[in-house]
Amino acid sequence: TDASTRDLLLSRIRDVADHPKPGIVFKDITPLLADPKAFTALTDALADLCGAYGATKVVGLEARGFILAAPVAVRAGLGFIPVRKAGKLPGATLSQSYELEYGTAEMEVHAEDLGEGDRVIVIDDVLATGGTAEASVELVRRAGAEVVGVAVLLELGFLDGRARLEPVLRGAPLEALLTF
Ligand code: PRP
Repeated sequence: TDASTRDLLLSRIRDVADHPKPGIVFKDITPLLADPKAFTALTDALADLCGAYGATKVVGLEARGFILAAPVAVRAGLGFIPVRKAGKLPGATLSQSYELEYGTAEMEVHAEDLGEGDRVIVIDDVLATGGTAEASVELVRRAGAEVVGVAVLLELGFLDGRARLEPVLRGAPLEALLTF
């Protein structure tokens, strides 16, 4: 992505103080989604990465990841596969639990949606601790597919998600359009 695209995206992200808890500055992407020029620029930038990675399928992570990944899949001409929070998908699923700061969480994918020969790009809005992305990478691999890259709009660099995720990626790229 070029500097002018990054500036446009950055200008449409709103800082919300004390959300969801006192002391946290929440990065709100809803102004970006509401601006068709910015949303299109974001979709195009991520669709370009699909091409660069030679992806054949797009995995999006519930819930905000869906908003980005679905139009990217359409733009890139690829199938969209949802990775959902536990209990939402109706068919036969693979489940992967992961550690949160307090407790654990679990993500699922329909096992039949991915398989050998699939080259998957994982797309989400934010990389924070990296736990959600790591679990998703494991799910894709357990389904028999290859992860060719992870792409996010925002990386919260101070939470060190990259340090957690990169060893798991075994050389596949982790691309953040913006880093804080
Ligand atoms: C947020 C965000 C990522 C994840 C990043 O999702 O959309 O999926 O957290 O955090 P991590 O890197 O520490 O795992 P959230 O769980 O808030 O759910 P939502 O998208 O459904 O709002």
